[in-house]
Amino acid sequence: MIRTISSKQLKLGMFIHKLDTTWLKHPFALNQFKIAETSDIKKIISADIKKVQIDTNKGLDIPQEKSSEATSKTEKQPSPAINKKTLKKKTPPVRKSLTKLRKDAKSIKDHAEEAISTIMADVKLGQQVEMELVTPVVDKMAESVLENSNALLGLSRIRTMDTYTFEHSVNISVLMMSFAKTRGMPTEFIHDVGVGGLLHDIGKTLTPPEILNKAGKLTDDEFKIMRRHVVDSRLILEKTPGINQNALDVAALHHEKFDGSGYPDGKKGDEISIVAQMSVIVDVYDALTADRCYHKGQDPSVVLKRMLSWGGSHFNPQLVHEFIHCVGIYPPATLVMLSNKHIAVVAENNDNLLAPNVVIFLNSKTRETIKPVLVNLSKQQELKVIRSESDQNWQIDPQKFLDLSL
Ligand SMILES: [Fe+2]
Repeated sequence: MIRTISSKQLKLGMFIHKLDTTWLKHPFALNQFKIAETSDIKKIISADIKKVQIDTNKGLDIPQEKSSEATSKTEKQPSPAINKKTLKKKTPPVRKSLTKLRKDAKSIKDHAEEAISTIMADVKLGQQVEMELVTPVVDKMAESVLENSNALLGLSRIRTMDTYTFEHSVNISVLMMSFAKTRGMPTEFIHDVGVGGLLHDIGKTLTPPEILNKAGKLTDDEFKIMRRHVVDSRLILEKTPGINQNALDVAALHHEKFDGSGYPDGKKGDEISIVAQMSVIVDVYDALTADRCYHKGQDPSVVLKRMLSWGGSHFNPQLVHEFIHCVGIYPPATLVMLSNKHIAVVAENNDNLLAPNVVIFLNSKTRETIKPVLVNLSKQQELKVIRSESDQNWQIDPQKFLDLSL
């Protein structure tokens, strides 16, 4: 049922059917989405959107017994539930919860890597994928992503070349869930794409290690063998009891390209399901930002720029824009140079993708560290991000500075 309510009556779990404004004026990637965070409600109120339509078949309703009364009451008298003033007073400090979340996220990520390493070893020995191992791990990651995706997204920049396949699998899972969340997709769907991300390269268990880990360029014959992993991923997962179609699509189609130049089937445009189109973007983003034996990972903002220029050939261009909305122009844990020549690390994104929340910790002129301080750049008139900086050039591990401002 579609119900019109005041934006002040919004609650987590409600499904937005229509906002009383145009797509260009509201800050969301989609017109229809489920409210997953209180910050979504803040954004609606801050955008001065007074009325919204909710779909009660897809999300929570307002309390039935008070519905008609509540609607008229809130017209005259703001509900104590959520308005600008109460949000200011009652919302706990974001940085505190993010620090705790980041700590939890580290152990969630470690567990997920252990799980996919065990699953891949089992499959190598000819065993089936055990969904009992997959589901709890994805549940934990989904919980963290739904609460605040910045914590796990920030950790996706930590790389160890030896465990690339496991880290890549966990990263794809986290990125897929964050992407699905930004697109307002339902919770069950977010879980499904998380499973798909974690298992998408399971077919690589059958790729000969000398090809999988080859430092140089692959020959045509070796590349042919390497490309086989998507077919193997599909075959392995088709035999997995309890697997869902979205996860299968991610595994089977994550190397297809929008213009038909991908593999294994050269599918193009709408022949590739939306979930698979999302996975193509996520897979390339993670691969290009990672250090491999044959290339150094590039900085996320450089990769995003390149990916924008490929939109329409490799990727669905609309989805590339939505992905940037998800990870940010300066994704969490990116080093940035500020207009006052200080260096900072991105802690999390806010409504203004060009002005994230950052931890400032270094004077680039003197090369001296300064007392780390957390600053929301969207609230600063004078201070701006000039560009992203390379961790390698500065020989800095950004993770070390993320929580030092507390
Ligand atoms: Fe792959």
